[in-house]
Amino acid sequence: MKAWLKNLFGGSKPEDPTPLGEIRRSFDRASSDEEHFPSTIDPRIYHVQLLLEYFGDQASGCILDNGCGKGRFARVLHERHPQANIVAFDLSEAMLHYVPEGIRPCSGTMTHLPFASDSFDCVYATESLEHAVAIDIAVAEMCRVLKPGGRLVIIDKNAEHWGRFKTPQWEKWFRREELEKLLRRDCKDVSSRFISYWDDVEPDGLFVAWLAQK
Ligand SMILES: C[S@@+](CC[C@H](N)C(=O)[O-])C[C@H]1O[C@@H](n2cnc3c(N)ncnc32)[C@H](O)[C@@H]1O
Repeated sequence: MKAWLKNLFGGSKPEDPTPLGEIRRSFDRASSDEEHFPSTIDPRIYHVQLLLEYFGDQASGCILDNGCGKGRFARVLHERHPQANIVAFDLSEAMLHYVPEGIRPCSGTMTHLPFASDSFDCVYATESLEHAVAIDIAVAEMCRVLKPGGRLVIIDKNAEHWGRFKTPQWEKWFRREELEKLLRRDCKDVSSRFISYWDDVEPDGLFVAWLAQK
């Protein structure tokens, strides 16, 4: 029997057939893998240092960690700026269980952020935009919720290195100019640079940081 006929006449209904459901379930499962999805990060790692440097004093305001996973970056920001109002946002509620106290966990999809426009001083997405599928919408959403003058950082992987790892079929890596173009729709002072984990190690081109101000 054809699948649609089977469903119409009471065949077993899939749990959630959308790509979003598949992505959520995959990260729910991955949350128990502390080795590959750690809940902490060494604050000396340049990815963290870049956020702290670029956000500066604005990091003591309202911050959105978009696609936060277990909130390892938010944890450092919270330690450095205890007065900051930090939201840890992720598709996977299982990931959010690891977010430390003092940071507000919130679940949903970054393609439809449940926040008012112009509400965050700082927004960042580290290795999460690559899973958003509707990339242009996700970037527009981050810009929408950023306050005028607010700062945005995206850290993700370079499309020119695609194939270096095995990746899920929905994952996408980016060319520098591709995300710069999307960010320029709503932000000024848009730039990008190659980064590595340690600031004394020459970047090998895998990781790119995009910076922008609204
Ligand atoms: C590779 S992990 C990175 C987590 C975190 N940013 C970090 O660096 O530790 C990617 C995260 O993006 C989340 N994610 C995937 N698609 C998402 C979406 N559409 N909206 C919000 N979060 C999403 C996943 O649940 C996962 O926790």
